Amino acid sequence: MVVTAYAYLRLFKTSRLVYFSRNMADSIPYLDLPAQLRGIRKDLDAAIARTIDQCSFCLGPDVAQFEKDFAKFTGAEHCVGFNSGTSALHVAMLLLGVGPGDEVITTPFTFVATSWAISYVGAKPVYVDIDDATFNLDPKLIERAITPRTKAVMPVHLYGHPFDVDAILAVCRKHKLPLVEDAAQAHGAKYKGKIVGTSGEISCFSFYPGKNLGACGEGGALVTNHAAFDKRARSLREHGSTVRYYHDEVGYNYRMEGLQGATLGVKLKHLAKWTRERQRVAHRYHELLADTPLQLPREADYAQGAWHLYVVRHPRRDDLKKHLEANGIGCALHYPLPLHLQKCYANLGHQPGDFPVAEKAARECLSLPIYPELTDRQIQRVAEAIQNFFRK
Ligand SMILES: Cc1ncc(COP(=O)(O)O)c(C=O)c1O
Repeated sequence: MVVTAYAYLRLFKTSRLVYFSRNMADSIPYLDLPAQLRGIRKDLDAAIARTIDQCSFCLGPDVAQFEKDFAKFTGAEHCVGFNSGTSALHVAMLLLGVGPGDEVITTPFTFVATSWAISYVGAKPVYVDIDDATFNLDPKLIERAITPRTKAVMPVHLYGHPFDVDAILAVCRKHKLPLVEDAAQAHGAKYKGKIVGTSGEISCFSFYPGKNLGACGEGGALVTNHAAFDKRARSLREHGSTVRYYHDEVGYNYRMEGLQGATLGVKLKHLAKWTRERQRVAHRYHELLADTPLQLPREADYAQGAWHLYVVRHPRRDDLKKHLEANGIGCALHYPLPLHLQKCYANLGHQPGDFPVAEKAARECLSLPIYPELTDRQIQRVAEAIQNFFRK
């Protein structure tokens, strides 16, 4: 658990965070977790040592404390820690009683786990196209997708930019549908000045290591203002049990590890500062890239983004990506293929053209390096490389 920077690089080489370009002397990695960990290493080591001394490996006092602290951070009454964001989303579907034959409205332009939660309970993901400016579920298109089988609406605060909560809530209230927020990428993002996570019935967060608030391993959380959801979520994550060896319903082993509760507790203290640093990076990119042909990400009037990702758009995206990588600049695609065109969802019978805005975004999107430790010099180097590409 206590790892060197090199071990981290190896860890991420085998995971989906393979964005390091380490050959050039002044290369800029897509993500630089070792830089983040260097600054808090002593506190992490102490927290990990405490957990080991206590042998509180599964849930335990550090998870309980983190749940309290994260509930306070989001403004929610309850927070339940999980072993991943995917597990939290799955449990959200169970809490709402979504099951076989039901439909849940969601976005086709997200990480696949949003949709997994719906599939895990035997329901059908019903996709609705996104808004071109924010990459988020388009509130104007939701109503026509509602059928008697619709059981919930689950939009995503994609890239850390809040979806239009009020507009989507208005549709949900009109049709008496619960709202589940997939806030996996949006720790600390604000909608109309309020931290996201308490507008719907349930919100789910991911603490995957590369997230704005990332564990030293996997982790997730479900937050809610409903005491009954909190109680049942705690049982579902622990084999459907509240009293040891007595099982009220079929449950899961979705417990958060004690080590993750401890490390997340350390990192949460830095989250507000890290979010401000991400905003600094985003605003600097805005300035430096304003005169390029790129379509830049913009905050909607109602939004203060958490800037999990800084995603630019251009029809020559693939060439630009190659150019940046050749110049030692890491970049990534979020996401190259929308969910309705994924092989795993072929049974839904979608065709290219069904969600044209999402499909165009998938062809054009390119995620540039963004993290709190990115220096102004590095940001300038990324911008210069992009300017050179368009000068050629
Ligand atoms: C939008 C979104 N939803 C859900 C998840 C799933 O979270 P986890 O990886 O913690 O299971 C992620 C994580 O990548 C995500 O980005």
